[in-house]
Amino acid sequence: MKDFLTQEFTKIFNKNPENTYFSPGRVNLIGEHIDYNGGLVMPCAVTFGTYLLVSPNSDGMFRFRSMNFEEKLDIPVQGNYTKTKEYWFNYPLGIIEYFLKDGHPVLGMDLLFYGNIPISSGLSSSASIEVVTAFALNDQLNSGYSKLDLVKLSQAVENNFIGVNCGIMDQFAVAFGEKNKALMLNCDTLDYKAVDSNLGEHILAIINTNKPRKLAESKYNERVQECQAALKALQHELEINNLCDIDTATFNKYSHLITDATIYKRAKHVIEENDRVKLAAVALSNNDLAEFGRLMYASHDSLRDLYEVSGKELDTIAEYSKTDANVAGARMTGAGFGGCGIALVKESAFEDFQKNMIAYYTNKIGYAPSVYSSLIGDGVGELLAESEKTKA
Ligand code: GLA
Repeated sequence: MKDFLTQEFTKIFNKNPENTYFSPGRVNLIGEHIDYNGGLVMPCAVTFGTYLLVSPNSDGMFRFRSMNFEEKLDIPVQGNYTKTKEYWFNYPLGIIEYFLKDGHPVLGMDLLFYGNIPISSGLSSSASIEVVTAFALNDQLNSGYSKLDLVKLSQAVENNFIGVNCGIMDQFAVAFGEKNKALMLNCDTLDYKAVDSNLGEHILAIINTNKPRKLAESKYNERVQECQAALKALQHELEINNLCDIDTATFNKYSHLITDATIYKRAKHVIEENDRVKLAAVALSNNDLAEFGRLMYASHDSLRDLYEVSGKELDTIAEYSKTDANVAGARMTGAGFGGCGIALVKESAFEDFQKNMIAYYTNKIGYAPSVYSSLIGDGVGELLAESEKTKA
């Protein structure tokens, strides 16, 4: 991969890249719509993601090129950038804007991006491109940010430059992910543990609905506001900073404070889902995949009925999975409104699962999903050639 990308870079810029970086995408095993409510999530990095090849230049220009999109941008290093339409280069441009705003000296660079995360699939292609750019700039410019600083900066870009009020989970997962580990992340304190993802004889399947995501961003921001309204109502009697500061039992005692039926449903999902993550962590450490799977299905049902971010495509994925004895559990992952589902499937039965899922889904929805088996990979870093790795 690296050699192929290097050749492309050379063709475009007539010189060799100095460095190549990679940031993965992520899936979330459980704990959905929790991060912006200060609770627990369990994401992991996947092995596909965004590659970035960089060479500094001496003419004070940023040149953005992508192997996935035709649009390109040449722009002087001066800052005060703003978002242009929905172009892909808004993400790296936002990152550079934040480096400049923080007062870091920034030099011109030639940048080539290549991503193999399906776009709009809910696997965090945006966090991946943000974090890879932030990591690369920090390395090239010796800006002295910690990895956590880069995560926070990337989230700020998504919130303020792109305009999606996301939590910190995606940027955190793609930066801190570890091979064969799931991250148990407390989104309030940002304490985390990388725990073994003991899937036993199961593997992680990703099922892309291939449904174009429309209105996802405005619906997402609407859910964030609904949670804020629920928190405000509960704060009349409870001293809490986040919805996830209380458990289900406490919620049941105080839920009368929320008078709006929709807001009540949103809060109920969040608080029960946070409790499910705690149970899922215990199940994973006991190698109890049956319990883990049960919690995944319960999470899906709650996202469908209480949080209302699923849809017939994602529901069909969970529905088929329930009929397949080789599946321990399944659910939608990420923000919802399309995107991907995940399932824990017996490795020996993966091909049957793939075939049957495609047939079932196509029959119901009218077009096929894409079904992949996925490995859990490492977070952001510089991509070294094999020879460089042995030198280090
Ligand atoms: C998107 C957001 C995350 C998180 C998930 C839902 O992926 O970017 O911050 O809120 O949705 O869990």
